[in-house]
Amino acid sequence: MSQNLSKITTVEDLRIIARRRVPRMFYDYADSGAWTEGTYRANEADFQKIKLRQRVAVDMDGRSLATTMAGQHVAMPVALAPTGLTGMQHADGEMLAAKAASDFGVPFTLSTMSICSIEDVARFTQKPFWFQLYVMRDREFIENLIDRAKAANCSALVLTLDLQIMGQRHKDIKNGLSAPPKPTLANLINLATKPRWCMSMLGTPRRTFGNIVGHAKSVTDLSSLSSWTAEQFDPRLSWDDVEWIKKRWGGKLILKGILDAEDARMAAQTGADALIVSNHGGRQLDGALSSISMLPAIVEAAGSNIEVWMDGGIRSGQDVLKAVALGARGTMIGRAFLYGLGAYGQDGVRRVLEILYKEMDVTMALCGRKNLSQVDRGILVPGTYPE
Ligand code: GLV
Repeated sequence: MSQNLSKITTVEDLRIIARRRVPRMFYDYADSGAWTEGTYRANEADFQKIKLRQRVAVDMDGRSLATTMAGQHVAMPVALAPTGLTGMQHADGEMLAAKAASDFGVPFTLSTMSICSIEDVARFTQKPFWFQLYVMRDREFIENLIDRAKAANCSALVLTLDLQIMGQRHKDIKNGLSAPPKPTLANLINLATKPRWCMSMLGTPRRTFGNIVGHAKSVTDLSSLSSWTAEQFDPRLSWDDVEWIKKRWGGKLILKGILDAEDARMAAQTGADALIVSNHGGRQLDGALSSISMLPAIVEAAGSNIEVWMDGGIRSGQDVLKAVALGARGTMIGRAFLYGLGAYGQDGVRRVLEILYKEMDVTMALCGRKNLSQVDRGILVPGTYPE
């Protein structure tokens, strides 16, 4: 049954509800960054420093936020980012988020580290979605994943380059993060305060890593994300692997995790369709610069043969518009949609997309522009944005 969420007017409203409803270890997993969380906070804070130019007496009738990302039509330049353990924020979370995204007309990206499998999401949405790949030591498993994504009709492969070893997030260690949660006293006490989450989890068979358990050799149970990552992710990943994966996949390829102009030049040479300026939501190299502050230099370095997108810190439609003004063809949201999902499932994700759309549309109008091809640095106050 769809819920009336008209009084929910910001992504922050949904974050507060998600924090109440989602078990602490999974809420913390989503809402945390590496070490001091300085980069995590900078992603959001640096958007706030950029100011907009208010324009008046300009015809703003007949506006559109529609565009394309890697050749795919999108209702607005926002895709749902791959996020691990999404099906622990809400039962069947990946299936519900994918459905909300496809109903709205924006892409959904399924993480390798998802709870629902590629096949679950394909069956549920009956629409193409994107698949995110981590490179593992076990190349046979990778080939198999790529083949499964092809068989499920995935329309792009998002290859993550910035997590061959995992950044340290203190809260995950302290909480003993595992999926499903281990029945320790602390977990049981916390779960007792989340009856809605517990009931819905009991109603689904999807409670561990659906793409991996039963598919990767000798993996029958996978409780600890970080220990599995340490064993399986291939720290020798190189640009040659990117070429190999591109060939094997044969479709649209998106490279995620570029934060340096030199790497952007390398990414452009691979012939991939898009790169994503990203520091993994501040979850990897704490101390790195924010995504939005690196965007202009990367747009310049990447040249015109590859689309440049960004993620990190987007909590409003204004943030999306600022990224577009600085040269991003598209953006990705991670935590923003997870808050909606944790709060209200599919309806919550739909609400996040509605909120971003409205904020972006009204902001664009008040800046005196009617469509995204008119959005450039001209909507920003000089001296307030990164060069
Ligand atoms: C995995 O992608 C993570 O950031 O935890």
